[in-house]
Amino acid sequence: MTIEEKILQMTQWTYGKNANANNIEASKKAVRPEIGSLIYRSVNPVYRNEIMRKAMEQSRLGIPILMGFDVIHGFRTIYPIPLAQACSWNPNLVAKAAAVAAKESKLSGVDWTFSPMIDVARDPRWGRVAEGYGEDPYTNAVFGVASVKGYQGKNLSDTFSIAACLKHYIGYSLSEGGRDYHYADVSAQTLWDTFMPPYEAGVKAGAATLMSAFNDISGVPASANHFTLTDILKQRWKHDGFVVSDWGSIENLIPQGFAKDRKDAALKSFTAGVEMDMVDNIYADNLPLLLKEHRISMKQVDDAVRRILRLKFKLGLFDKPYVEELPEKDRYYQPESMAIARKLAEESMVLLKNDGQTLPIAHNIKQIALIGPMVKDSINIMGSWEGQGMPSSVETIFDGFKKEFQGKTTLNFAKGCDFDGDDESGFNEASIAAKKSDIIVLCLGEMEKWSGENATRSTLALPVIQQHLFSILKQSGKPIILIISNGRPIELGSLNRLSGAILEIWQPGIAGGSAVAGIISGRLNPSGKLAITFPLTTGQIPTYYNMRQSARPKLGGYQDISSEPNYWFGHGLSYTTFSYSKITLSDSIISKNKNLIARVEITNTGLRDGKETAMWFISDPVASVTRPVKELKFFEKKNLKAGEKQTFQFEIDPIRDLSFPDANGVRHLESGEFYIMLNEQKVKFELVD
Ligand code: BGC
Repeated sequence: MTIEEKILQMTQWTYGKNANANNIEASKKAVRPEIGSLIYRSVNPVYRNEIMRKAMEQSRLGIPILMGFDVIHGFRTIYPIPLAQACSWNPNLVAKAAAVAAKESKLSGVDWTFSPMIDVARDPRWGRVAEGYGEDPYTNAVFGVASVKGYQGKNLSDTFSIAACLKHYIGYSLSEGGRDYHYADVSAQTLWDTFMPPYEAGVKAGAATLMSAFNDISGVPASANHFTLTDILKQRWKHDGFVVSDWGSIENLIPQGFAKDRKDAALKSFTAGVEMDMVDNIYADNLPLLLKEHRISMKQVDDAVRRILRLKFKLGLFDKPYVEELPEKDRYYQPESMAIARKLAEESMVLLKNDGQTLPIAHNIKQIALIGPMVKDSINIMGSWEGQGMPSSVETIFDGFKKEFQGKTTLNFAKGCDFDGDDESGFNEASIAAKKSDIIVLCLGEMEKWSGENATRSTLALPVIQQHLFSILKQSGKPIILIISNGRPIELGSLNRLSGAILEIWQPGIAGGSAVAGIISGRLNPSGKLAITFPLTTGQIPTYYNMRQSARPKLGGYQDISSEPNYWFGHGLSYTTFSYSKITLSDSIISKNKNLIARVEITNTGLRDGKETAMWFISDPVASVTRPVKELKFFEKKNLKAGEKQTFQFEIDPIRDLSFPDANGVRHLESGEFYIMLNEQKVKFELVD
């Protein structure tokens, strides 16, 4: 390969945004046939095949182009946002959703998704908290691996497999104040305790690529960080795939104060270990000169190109560069993907509060006031990064209620107000609807653009207009069931106390409507549990369950409010009740090379079937590096019929579950006392040498 051919392989452009017949020819013409990758923004496989034909037939070497796209929670069939998916505690379902998303993507011309995002997120002001799996490293690891496996299938060369991309490597979610793209002060200990575990798990699971983040990690930007990109990723973890920069993150080294110009930025990112440049053309413009000046070597370039070509071979693109050109009706919304979209929406909704069994609503209810800006919404309910989702395909909350209650209950709809602003002209109509109904179902929440990228908020509270609508309706004296749809935890304030029941539906995607209605009517029993803590107020941030211990545990709380959050990680109610037996351990003293088995029997003591997730935590009260108060190490969700009892088991592998990393990432296993924690129980065992 010539130098130019090599460096074009390391370059990604975009293609297909204006993919209508008038524009596509010009943009097709502009693409170099030697280009390594394109962000492919069309849904049309014909355009992919045409541009691919250009690469295969008009370039000297006939190297296929790698088509990438942000398939974050579905391609056209849009699932709940990733944060919601984690609340399902059902990684198998998440893997299936990723597999179906991969199929829809491939059939549209996409070979590579920029997903999953596994940035452990503990500051919900940061809008991208919606895109990952919450506040816990283990949860991010499990769901990250599930989606990698779903996207990549058994083999990358399978017809409907696409390559995954772990992002954003690394420390991005710690951007100061939740302000996107800002500096992140990540201590070496936090790096290893919190951020590395999901990436290490994803790399071990075979993730083909990683994306280097925008943020500056304690003085060295993530997209020019030799330590994380080369020492750890390539040398320690032996990753043989490649790293793509984030959008323009190489050029961003200039405003970050790490590079003096584009050439310097290209040099720093490339030598740190970023193999592909996303959209900047910064490698194409500068690497040839840097080679000539011997600032980089051909060996380094060859390694980068080899990594990129290896993926193209693994995906089978050389043998099968073209995709089938099926009509849209055969590509999208197939029964299997709709079934998954529905199930994932159902399982990810979290019943936060249910006073006096407000829910499910009683059978004798004749009229429901269905109020709020979210009721008929078909855009925001999909959430940010909605891929190629179409509002016209969305089943709104209103649609779901109509189907659920048709012929049984009258629905009195009123929008009440918008998501934001100060127009109260709809309040009157909402009050009238409330007065003539037996119960109010109030659907509030966030617009999709309030979370996701570049979507930082200074408060987690809902806008004043929505809170005001709530107070007006409260005056009717009718019970309020609050449904919230959002991309981050919400500061509920007095809405928490004044609502009879609260259902967190997140941004549930295109099949959310019937899931909400089914839970409200009682046809479905909610089983989601929070993968992220809901602080009481924004001022409590950061609040997450696996915090470290305080020097004076009884002191240091807030003077003006409780120090307890509103709802902890793991919280979620059901319409049935579960009782837990005492935990039994196979031993109370174990050696370092012996596994310990913990068991519990969980009985469904209520009158209806339900799913329960057992969350097993470990606490290590004394260690040479202090440990969090507790850490999730295993979870399992099972369906229990009314009256049924099942055994849940956690096999503790000391090396995996009881060891901890130091600031260099070296793991230590220290003897001493440990506790296993589940629900309210805490049982001691000892690890001996
Ligand atoms: C985002 C990435 C995304 C990329 C490509 C960037 O701005 O940070 O998450 O994958 O754009 O669209």
